Amino acid sequence: MDESLEELADRFSQIADRYDEKHGSEEKPVYNACASLVIEHAAPHPDDVVLDLGTGTGVIALALAGDADYVVGRDISDGMIEQARSKAADSGIENVEFGYGEFRDPRYDGNVDIIVSNFALHHLPDEEKREAIEVIADLGPRRLVLGDAMFFGSSNPEEPLFDHGVDAATVGMLVDVLTDAGFVITTAERVHDQVGVLVAEKIGNAVEQDTVSAEVTIDGDTQK
Ligand SMILES: C[S@@+](CC[C@H](N)C(=O)[O-])C[C@H]1O[C@@H](n2cnc3c(N)ncnc32)[C@H](O)[C@@H]1O
Repeated sequence: MDESLEELADRFSQIADRYDEKHGSEEKPVYNACASLVIEHAAPHPDDVVLDLGTGTGVIALALAGDADYVVGRDISDGMIEQARSKAADSGIENVEFGYGEFRDPRYDGNVDIIVSNFALHHLPDEEKREAIEVIADLGPRRLVLGDAMFFGSSNPEEPLFDHGVDAATVGMLVDVLTDAGFVITTAERVHDQVGVLVAEKIGNAVEQDTVSAEVTIDGDTQK
């Protein structure tokens, strides 16, 4: 990527006060579908701590706060973090914290049960995505829910959904990295040929519970 982390953070800070208006609108059905699936699949228990990486204005973090014990949002953009904090204060949500953190240095050393990330990992090139997922695995979550731009078909589509600034991975690459990091993929939701949600469970956890079935949704049909 040509853009430095600081430039990217500044770019998001400049649009932070308009971000929700733009992304929550009906013009962004793919974003909205992806965000809803991330929230649905995170499914925290009341005693769970959730970490939301690339939290932005806290759309996912704040939606999960009602079900979780505590939610931690991390982002590189001060402007986005400010928006998230002010939304939490306006809604009286007290079991969340937002602060600076990068995928490969989330700056949170407490216990984490579930890690989520929506439309953010694509800002890293593939090799850095791998490093980020290794750091995430080291934090010890039992579940990781990743919604993002990802190629289910050709990684060189004739009609790209996104322009510059989006470095989508193939689903295969993400599955490989997650598997190498000790997760098993329990659900892969295809929102669009270039967008999806992967749910990964820590292997020991999935085997112990013996309740996880592989479920793949392709074109609206669920296949097990
Ligand atoms: C498109 S927004 C998505 C925000 C939010 N997750 C959502 O669903 O609305 C991408 C966010 O990722 C953040 N971001 C980009 N690169 C990052 C990195 N390396 N580490 C942490 N956050 C990052 C940006 O600052 C921005 O807030």
